[in-house]
Amino acid sequence: MSAPKVAVVTGASSGIGRALALACAREGMAVVAADIEAEALAQTQALVEAAGAACMMQRCDVSNAADVELLAEASWGRWGGVDWLFNNAGVAVLGTAWDATDDDWRWVLGVNLMGVVHGVRSFLPRMQARGMPAHIVNTSSAAGLATIAGSAVYCASKHAVIAFSECLAKDLEQAGSPIGVSVLCPSLVATHIDQSQRNRPAALPEVGPTAAAYGERVRAGMAASAITAEDVARVAVDAIHARRFYVIPHAHTGASVRDRTQKIMGDFHHIHQESLQ
Ligand SMILES: NC(=O)c1ccc[n+]([C@@H]2O[C@H](COP(=O)([O-])OP(=O)(O)OC[C@H]3O[C@@H](n4cnc5c(N)ncnc54)[C@H](O)[C@@H]3O)[C@@H](O)[C@H]2O)c1
Repeated sequence: MSAPKVAVVTGASSGIGRALALACAREGMAVVAADIEAEALAQTQALVEAAGAACMMQRCDVSNAADVELLAEASWGRWGGVDWLFNNAGVAVLGTAWDATDDDWRWVLGVNLMGVVHGVRSFLPRMQARGMPAHIVNTSSAAGLATIAGSAVYCASKHAVIAFSECLAKDLEQAGSPIGVSVLCPSLVATHIDQSQRNRPAALPEVGPTAAAYGERVRAGMAASAITAEDVARVAVDAIHARRFYVIPHAHTGASVRDRTQKIMGDFHHIHQESLQ
């Protein structure tokens, strides 16, 4: 029997990450499930195994480069290679742009942006050395394609993931690499992202004063979403097979992207057709 293809998923203890791990199991892949929450991670492992796939779990803080390097080492040690990497772990803080704290910025950029960067830095060179086709999916958000009030820290982190992923895709294309990249941009989905504080490091305790006021809006949006984490995972897997870069599961995200682009182009035309004439 040939060795199974292997998928690594960070943030696999909950929500979209757990759904991605299960979607990969259904693809017949072996799964490496990584997360900072060890107890819930064991539940993901049990679910993946119940779906008939081999599953290795590893506790990993993606904001810590050494942890992610150990994850790559362990994945190669167990299976000799990785075919799909989902840099999915993420956290959210809310609040007005001006009162987010240093701790808010350090925590969210550390997990959402540097977690993705660490994943690419540890896994991509090994994928390239193996010389086989592989695919990396970075989880951004609709908040990485557009912007909303009360979300400056989260939006900045997710816009950075899009920019990083676009540059990565261009670098790989220029290098003639067989490795593909996608960026996953869901809008609100019912998960435990509204309870992100559960994973906040004790060393970064200071929360901005307006954070709680915006929480209700997010919870209402998640409850109203017709799209589930399982839908998001299915769309992501389809995108890998089709080698699509932008993975946008919610139809209404199209209008937000259009509105933002129109605003940019409207101001651009104003300057170049009126002000500079
Ligand atoms: N739920 C949504 O509405 C939504 C929308 C757009 C994007 N996203 C993104 O989807 C991804 C998954 O989030 P979710 O909605 O499933 O939330 P979730 O809270 O249910 O799952 C996130 C997982 O990431 C893990 N995690 C947190 N910090 C970590 C760290 N430092 N190292 C390793 N793991 C860590 C958590 O333990 C958790 O298991 C995130 O990147 C999030 O920003 C979510």
